Amino acid sequence: MRLATSFAVLAGVAAAIAVIRHRAGALGRSAPGGTLINDVCAYDTMTRVLLGSLYRSIAADVGAAAPRQARVLEVGCGPGHLAVRLARDYGLDVTGLDLDPAMVERARANATREFGEGPRPSFVVGDVSALPFEDKSFDLVVSTLSMHHWDDPAAGLSEIGRMLRPGARALVWDFRRGVVPLHSDMPDPVERTHHSGLRVVSATPWRWPWKLAVTQRLELVPEVTQGGAGP
Ligand SMILES: C[S@@+](CC[C@H](N)C(=O)[O-])C[C@H]1O[C@@H](n2cnc3c(N)ncnc32)[C@H](O)[C@@H]1O
Repeated sequence: MRLATSFAVLAGVAAAIAVIRHRAGALGRSAPGGTLINDVCAYDTMTRVLLGSLYRSIAADVGAAAPRQARVLEVGCGPGHLAVRLARDYGLDVTGLDLDPAMVERARANATREFGEGPRPSFVVGDVSALPFEDKSFDLVVSTLSMHHWDDPAAGLSEIGRMLRPGARALVWDFRRGVVPLHSDMPDPVERTHHSGLRVVSATPWRWPWKLAVTQRLELVPEVTQGGAGP
């Protein structure tokens, strides 16, 4: 992607945020567990148009990290664009979870449009800090641009750790501190992992758009507990 295109994407995101703010009064609203996007329809359209290349690069990374048909949980899946790509392009068995019932409804509609009535990602309403799944249910947990919406990131990450099968890991993308308008006061994503029971294996600026890096990729594994391997 050329530099001019990168700036066009960033300008587009900023303009879209401004439009959503104007239409909805504010970008998000508080709910028990986290912050929800006010205008689900506008968010769906904006992310489909402007973030397609981001989801494509993340899906390629996740696809390379997960064996085919691996069971993958996507936390804070929003309208499901990444989940659809992971299932369609990499044959992964994806479950998307979001706090917002309207987002989950949207994600289901997007998946139906893509897959018809055939096998497709499933989507459930839930809070990352109280995940409705058995321990060790997933081979990989992913999350994009959602952690800064969670009320209690340490509790959410702890729950993500509970989901991981032996040898599994979590991949979390979130904005880097101070680079995105309206998110400039958020803490660094790495700081949010403290006291979560997960250990940061790597924290890498994620190149998108083009050579800019507005997000960071965290790779997390369960902390090794005293006297043995992690859970
Ligand atoms: C900015 S959107 C990101 C959506 C999608 N992952 C993407 O990359 O476009 C943040 C999402 O996190 C969800 N969310 C906020 N708090 C949450 C929580 N406690 N548990 C699960 N999802 C949450 C919101 O409902 C919203 O859909």
